[in-house]
Amino acid sequence: RIEELKSMVDLQNGRIDRRIFWEDWIYQLELEKLFAKSWLFVAHESQVKNTGDFVTTYMGQDNVIVSRHKDGNIHVFTNSCTHRGNRICFADRGQARQFTCNYHGWAFGTDGALLGMHEETHYEGYINKAEHGLQNARVETYKGLVFACFDDEAPRLEDFLGDFRWYLDVILDQTEEGTEFIGGCIKNMYNANWKFGAENFVGDSLHVGWTHASGTRAVSKGGEVPEYMPVDPESFHANANGHGWEGGTDGVGTLALISSGDPTLVEYFENERKNMAKRLGELRARKLYGSVISATVFPNFSFLPGINTMRTWLPKGPRQFELRAWTMVNKSMPDHIREIVQNACVMTFSPSGIFEMDDGENWENATQANEGVVTRKQSLHYGLRSGTSRRDDPELPGNISKPMYSDVNQLAFYQRWMDYLSADSWDDIPKFR
Ligand code: FES
Ligand code: FE
Repeated sequence: RIEELKSMVDLQNGRIDRRIFWEDWIYQLELEKLFAKSWLFVAHESQVKNTGDFVTTYMGQDNVIVSRHKDGNIHVFTNSCTHRGNRICFADRGQARQFTCNYHGWAFGTDGALLGMHEETHYEGYINKAEHGLQNARVETYKGLVFACFDDEAPRLEDFLGDFRWYLDVILDQTEEGTEFIGGCIKNMYNANWKFGAENFVGDSLHVGWTHASGTRAVSKGGEVPEYMPVDPESFHANANGHGWEGGTDGVGTLALISSGDPTLVEYFENERKNMAKRLGELRARKLYGSVISATVFPNFSFLPGINTMRTWLPKGPRQFELRAWTMVNKSMPDHIREIVQNACVMTFSPSGIFEMDDGENWENATQANEGVVTRKQSLHYGLRSGTSRRDDPELPGNISKPMYSDVNQLAFYQRWMDYLSADSWDDIPKFR
C-alpha cells in the first residue's frame, strides 16, 4: 500500500491524487505516522502561565491536557484514565491541583503521575502506581509557542522547525517582551479534510481575490478591489521542512487596518516596524511585517501574520476537522490596539467572520465531491510554477520561489507529508527539506 500511496503525490508533474483527501486507510496512516510522530502546536505559554493552569487540546485524535506543573515545567499528557479509560478532564481550560476521574476516583497530578485511588482500603499490594501514570509527550517551546511530540526518536523541535524559525521570528520576536494569546478560543467544525486548511494557509494567495471578493469589497467600504492583486515580482513562497510562508509585499496592509480603518493603527504599526527593524533587520521589517500573507507550520498549525489569527486544523476523520483559533498580540501592545486587532480577527476569521465561511464552503465541497468514485479517480493540478524553487536566495533562507502565486509551497507540504507517511523509521525521513 505504501507504493500505491507514493504514486499519489507526483512532485515532477505537480499532480495530487484526490484519494488523500478521502480514504480511511490513508487517514489512519496520518494518525499513526504523522500526528503521533511530528511536533504539534498545543498551546501558547501565556495560556498556562501559573502553576496548575491547564488547557485541553488534541494531538491527532489523542485528547491531551497541557498543564503547568509545580516544578515550573509544562507537561502534556493523555486525557484518559489508566483504570477503565474514562476521560478525566472535561474543561477546555482552567486551574487544577490534580485531575480526578469521575468513574472510580483515581487522581492524577498536573504532571500526569498517578497519585492515588483508595489504596489503603482496596488496592494495597495490587498496583504499582508508577506504572499507571498518564502518557507524557515530549514538550519544547519556541519563543512562547508550546509544541509536543509523542515520539522519543523524533529530532528536536529546533531541527523540526529548521530554517522556518527565521520566518516565525517575524511574528514571535518583534519585541523584547514577546507575545501572548488574548480572549478565548474560537472553535468551529468543518465537513472537510484537515489538509485543505493547512495547504490553503501554506501558500494559496491565489484564492484571495476570487473567493474573498465580496468580503473584501465589504470591508473596503465600496472601494474598487481588483479580482487579482497585481503580481509583485519580489513576492515569494518560502518553505523549509514542509513549513511554508508566502508574502513579501511592502506596507502594513494588515487586515486589522483594512477592517477597522482606524488611523491610530497606522501610526502604531509604523512605529512598531521601526523597533522591529532594530531587532530583526530591515529586510524582515520591510518585506515581512504586517502584510496580509499566510503561513503554516507543518503539519496543522497556521497563522496570518499581521492580523495574527493563530489556528490548528484538528483532524476528526478524513472528512471532518475542528478548527481552533486564537488571537495573538505583542505583550507591549496598548489596550485600544489590542481591542481593534481582536475585533478584526472576529470580523474576518471566525465562524461569523466575512472570510472564514468563504473558505470553509470551498474546502467542504472539495472534500465531499470525492464521494463519487469516478470523480475521485481524476487527479488534481498542483503544477503552478512547480520546479521554480531554489535554495540559494541571497536574502531569504529556505527554498524560495518568486512570485508568490504558485503551488510551490503546497507541493513542498505534500512532499513532507509523504516523507512521514512512507517512512519505516526516522532514517527514512530527511532531516532537512
Ligand atoms: Fe477512571 Fe475508573 S475509569 S477511575
Ligand atoms: Fe481564504
